[in-house]
Amino acid sequence: MTNFVNALTIKERSNFTALKSYKQQQAVNPTTKPNTHMIHWSEQYTTGSGDLDHQHRTLIDKINGLEAMLAISYPTRADYESMIKVVDFMEFYAHAHFKAEEVCMEAYRCPAHAQNKQAHAEFLKFFREFKEHNRTKGFPREIVEQLHAVTSRWIEEHILLVDTQLKACMKG
Ligand SMILES: [Fe+2]
Ligand SMILES: [Fe+2]
Repeated sequence: MTNFVNALTIKERSNFTALKSYKQQQAVNPTTKPNTHMIHWSEQYTTGSGDLDHQHRTLIDKINGLEAMLAISYPTRADYESMIKVVDFMEFYAHAHFKAEEVCMEAYRCPAHAQNKQAHAEFLKFFREFKEHNRTKGFPREIVEQLHAVTSRWIEEHILLVDTQLKACMKG
């Protein structure tokens, strides 16, 4: 993903979002799954705030944990229940994290504040609607896989392109 983001031009970066890409893929072929991968934390994800970095790491750990659960060949009912608990936790934790990060960006007058706030709102809307839409299907593996893939790409892209803009503001 890092190489992927770096390979994009500035214009492509500003137009690119994991959610847009997912929606476009779904419009063409609703059965297409976005690519997924483990996120490996590194220095480039740091925001200048230890608290926010810790929250990002918690979210990434949960997303990676979900991927490990999805790799189980024959998941039991208990495995599925654990996956759904992780998904619910991610939504709850993302809410709290987004709020804390928005307060921090506003306090430091970060120019990315409005963009960050809008991206958070879009993501939460997507997450809520995705869950609502699929609730009646009982969250089969492919649905959890889709949610995981979009979430994993979104969080990585969002931290690298938006959240890390805070670092320069906190130094200044
Ligand atoms: Fe953010
Ligand atoms: Fe964040």
